[in-house]
Amino acid sequence: MANVKKIAVLVSGGGTNLQALIDAEKAGIINSGKISLVISNNAGAYALERAKNADIDTAVVLKRQLGSQEAFEDAIMKLLSDYEIDVIVLAGFMSILSERFTSSYPRRIINVHPSLIPSFCGKGFYGLRVHEAALEFGVKVTGATVHFVNEIPDGGEIIMQKAVYIEDGDTPEVLQRRVMEEAEWKILPASVEKVCAEM
Ligand code: GAR
Repeated sequence: MANVKKIAVLVSGGGTNLQALIDAEKAGIINSGKISLVISNNAGAYALERAKNADIDTAVVLKRQLGSQEAFEDAIMKLLSDYEIDVIVLAGFMSILSERFTSSYPRRIINVHPSLIPSFCGKGFYGLRVHEAALEFGVKVTGATVHFVNEIPDGGEIIMQKAVYIEDGDTPEVLQRRVMEEAEWKILPASVEKVCAEM
């Protein structure tokens, strides 16, 4: 297909959202974009195995090794430029990117967050911590949000949201899994297709 957008996925951990994107591309749910590169800030991330199994190029960029946030982001930007990336997807990427980085890619960086923004989001809210906070507060509905990334953590324009009910006896782990299955793994691929198609 002409004009297929090149996608880079940034990951840190298990990579189930990356897997959802890979599966969506195989199933033709994503056909306006192609995952061309997976970048991890953690050499041990299982997401890297998922990328290799799907024959996708991978790169590991370590802030500790590079010495500063600026050098870390420069290394990522160099990769994005070398691969001529159009769309950047943060799929469980547990590092906050500076304004210098985010303003270089306006409406081109997409993040998935495991709550209904503006609840349980912003600095300090990531991964399991988000579901712990939702259960501690006692909300009855939570969900996931896909949004564009700007200089405000979890503050960019919302692309899609999906609600998920909390059930009696939920633990953070059980709730995390339900939010992934019912919301994240659906709205992330759908949003990526939408953004690539409209770009
Ligand atoms: C997902 O639940 C994702 O929404 C969340 O981390 C998990 C990563 O899982 N991201 C954040 O909390 C970002 N603020 P995965 O590696 O299996 O996709």
